[in-house]
Amino acid sequence: MAIRKKIIAGNWKMNKTSTEAKTLVPEIQEKLGKFDQAEVVICPPFTALQTASEALGTHSDIALGAQNMHQAASGAYTGEISAAMLRDLFCRYVILGHSERRQYFGETDALVNEKAKVALKANLRPIVCVGETLAEREGGKMEEVVVSQTKGSCAGFSEEDWNNVVIAYEPVWAIGTGKTATPAQAQEVHALIRKTLGEIAGKAVADKVRIQYGGSVKADNAKELLNQPDIDGALVGGASLDAASFVAIIKNGSEK
Ligand code: 13P
Repeated sequence: MAIRKKIIAGNWKMNKTSTEAKTLVPEIQEKLGKFDQAEVVICPPFTALQTASEALGTHSDIALGAQNMHQAASGAYTGEISAAMLRDLFCRYVILGHSERRQYFGETDALVNEKAKVALKANLRPIVCVGETLAEREGGKMEEVVVSQTKGSCAGFSEEDWNNVVIAYEPVWAIGTGKTATPAQAQEVHALIRKTLGEIAGKAVADKVRIQYGGSVKADNAKELLNQPDIDGALVGGASLDAASFVAIIKNGSEK
């Protein structure tokens, strides 16, 4: 059984200016201190990446990630950002297919898959998001949705690619609502995703790929969620905007 190092990422969404990032990043670093129990990632908006990158410095225990990218290498795509632009700012990760991108910007599994492959080629590690809506869950479609999003968004990755892929299970009904999936509910879906990975890429891949949970993760529920056997980390929204609460999640979530 592969040992999967926990990965806890903060998705700032459309919050924090570059000026605000200049104080928030050092605050997180100071509160976290030297830390190697889990991999920590922050994903500021594009406009704060440069500042965050400079504040983190070159040997930081905290990695930098972006929240989206365009699939083309360059060209006439007004308002878009390429993988190379993110790498140039020392981003290591990129969140792809977040439910807000799927819902408000029409992103499909096929597009998420295309972006993920471009990211991997550029040495960016995709955090591929999947998750069902409340209507889908209540309509008995949770399994179907999560399995088809996982298969569609992660189609055609090579063995080597899988070393650099993270999946995030974010039930849409738990995002920003204060309604967290119970640890048992989350574990059930994480196990389903891992089973699906086994089917599409084999047991070795299923054993090593990390699957984060996202949706109203807070300091007081992080430990119980992250102690589930198939939950390998968290993708934190609102609670990552405050240094104290983000660091409390990181520390509580890494406790055995
Ligand atoms: P919240 O933690 O604010 O519920 O957001 C979760 C999320 O969407 C992270 O990507």
